[in-house]
Amino acid sequence: MTIAILSALPEEQQGLVDLLQNAQQLSYAGRRFWRGTLHGVQVVCALSGIGKVAAATTATVLIERLNAQAIVFTGVAGGLGADVHVGDVVVARSYVQHDMDASPLFPRYEMPGYGRSVFACDEALTHKLALAVQQCVQSLAAAWTATLALPAPRMHQGLIVSGDRFVSGVEESANLRKGLEQADLQPLAVEMEGAAIAQVCADYDLPFAAMRSISDRADDAAHVDFPKFVHSIASRYAQVVIENLCKQLAKA
Ligand code: ADE
Repeated sequence: MTIAILSALPEEQQGLVDLLQNAQQLSYAGRRFWRGTLHGVQVVCALSGIGKVAAATTATVLIERLNAQAIVFTGVAGGLGADVHVGDVVVARSYVQHDMDASPLFPRYEMPGYGRSVFACDEALTHKLALAVQQCVQSLAAAWTATLALPAPRMHQGLIVSGDRFVSGVEESANLRKGLEQADLQPLAVEMEGAAIAQVCADYDLPFAAMRSISDRADDAAHVDFPKFVHSIASRYAQVVIENLCKQLAKA
């Protein structure tokens, strides 16, 4: 079983490739892939690129060319839920594309051709990922967030939304939340890739799980908070959580 490990940015995955044993680099569609083993699990690491189309292409190459049988995403997101703070981690239970709008032909957020707006993550893989995150949050992560004068982090689980926008304003994020809530959707976080990968994985009937550490609150300070967090903490989460996850998978 080969598991693909994806992040959007190099900073989010830094160091992970160095942990691979028998690493081999491959190249397809202008992307680099590193195949190897981690704690006895066959993995392939790659960068999705930024945005839904780049992420969908990467996911498709992973499945079609590299025989990925599951995809796990680790990266950062902007916090939208009222109690989702910078430094916390959100484990996705489901995904919605917040910029999908084919109304009035289809209800707002619905994916034409799918008859739904929500793509669920794989339950079993998400459960394992949440255990891996919880282990990290309860041990090492508080020391990392302390370096940015942030409180001890917490884990949340629920809906993450994706769209081709970096959300960086109080009014914009309030409007985003309001629109989703009107459709009975309660988003915890916003990013730019996950929903596209969830859709590709649904097309191929492949398990998908994702975790996002919260780099900013998608507010007026997001453009300052985001790079600070990405440079200092994001890759630590990726390394420790993916190692925890692979140890669990190796035991199963
Ligand atoms: N990823 C991290 N922060 C984000 C934000 N505020 N908007 C979109 N994607 C993000």
